Amino acid sequence: MTGDDMPDGLTTTAPAAEPTALVESRMTTLGVLARLVRDPLTSVPPEAYAAPLVRARFAGGQRLYLVDPPLIQDALVRHADDLAKTSDVGRVLGPALGQGLLTAEGAHWRWQRRGAAPAFAPGRLGAFLPAMIAAAEAMTRRWASLGDGAEVDVGHETSVTTLDIIVATMLPGGGDLDVARIVRSVSDYLAPAGWMFACAMLGLPGWMPHPGRRRAMAAARSFQGAMRREVARRRAEPGAADDLVAALLGAADPETGRAMTDDELADNIATFVMAGHETTAVALAWSLHLLSRHPEHEARLVAEVEAVTGGGPVRPEHVERLAFARAVFEEACRLYPPAPIIGRGVRRGFRLGPARAEEGSVLIVPIHALHRNRLLWDQPERFDPERFMPERTRTRHRYSFMPFGAGPRVCIGAGFATLEAVAVLAVVLRAFRLESAGAEPHATMHVTLRPDRPIRMRVRRR
Ligand code: HEM
Repeated sequence: MTGDDMPDGLTTTAPAAEPTALVESRMTTLGVLARLVRDPLTSVPPEAYAAPLVRARFAGGQRLYLVDPPLIQDALVRHADDLAKTSDVGRVLGPALGQGLLTAEGAHWRWQRRGAAPAFAPGRLGAFLPAMIAAAEAMTRRWASLGDGAEVDVGHETSVTTLDIIVATMLPGGGDLDVARIVRSVSDYLAPAGWMFACAMLGLPGWMPHPGRRRAMAAARSFQGAMRREVARRRAEPGAADDLVAALLGAADPETGRAMTDDELADNIATFVMAGHETTAVALAWSLHLLSRHPEHEARLVAEVEAVTGGGPVRPEHVERLAFARAVFEEACRLYPPAPIIGRGVRRGFRLGPARAEEGSVLIVPIHALHRNRLLWDQPERFDPERFMPERTRTRHRYSFMPFGAGPRVCIGAGFATLEAVAVLAVVLRAFRLESAGAEPHATMHVTLRPDRPIRMRVRRR
């Protein structure tokens, strides 16, 4: 396996276009809707894998797909104030995340972002490493207890581990949270996401029945209930910890001076719990999958860990020095970006290269297509971590690789996620050899880019 599983119906064999050309998509509105329901990733026009800018007409409106790094920079950074998140984001994630940092807009977004920022300051991230390493070691103990050569569902394992890390670092003392139940709720909630996107794009009301809706709404209620109990617990113990919740409790709206209400706090804790574990969990699952198919890269990663740790356990001070492990994680995020599509609605029109971003239209950055675009990447389907070693990254445009987004809405947890992923890869691969034990998984989008079947692996002690 070379990381080449393109979503159904997409190929990268279309002829490459000129760097500034605008290509018209031939997809019809009905075709887009059918693909959205099946798998939203397949609604990206195939042309976006070989051209810089693609225009599609959808339900009488315009959608521009940006796959050219300078144009992406122009839109998401320079014109950030002319854009808003697309309404389908709030529609799809709202029932679970309310108006937290990921889904809020304008002034309400800004003060929440300022409030949360101190918890993610670069100088503070290193302090989270002991908890990250401890959670990874707990995963290896779980595997060891199953016996040598046991089979595990890697996606489930990485979900439990990344959720353990979020609880330990962002909600210390949140030991009452039922991690297994949260993992299940998030999974049930995201399962019918394609239907939710399609209903949102047709402007259908939120109560409109669709397959999986009842189960998803029950999952959202269970998830929100757990977050509300967490808020009540923290309100009852003021000053208990210096963590994300403390930062949010201390935040004040600059316009009114008011603090967050219980609902706003619960929405933000929900956002950090969901956005903070699901994405990293799938990125780690894809990383382990790719390594199991490429023993030469796995061997190099293990050799790097051995050299840096001197054969001892992985410690916090080692993690920053694991350049190849980081390159593996980044290359996995290139091939399988956990958030594969970013959308924005245009609030005020502006010129965008050869096209015009019309007011009321939609801009899409199909990160999956950007990361596999033939104009930007040599042999884009090949898994080659070497691309992310420092000497190779210098010559690349900053926005040709953007798993964490760009502009003011860039992921607040990017540094956190990278640190945790490198720590987990180092601890796990040091202890276990992973052999694929199931059919080849394909990537499918359920808000995040998940495997279409469990990634099963046999884990053997080294
Ligand atoms: C590999 C892991 C991750 C990936 C690929 C990822 C990806 C992204 C992307 C692409 C966005 C921007 C979406 C947009 O522009 O529409 C985003 C936003 C966000 N992410 Fe992440 N993320 C990851 C890990 C995390 C972690 C670990 C946390 C928290 C601990 C987190 C919390 C958030 C939040 C709160 C936002 C909203 C930020 C805002 O709008 O101000 N993410 N993430």
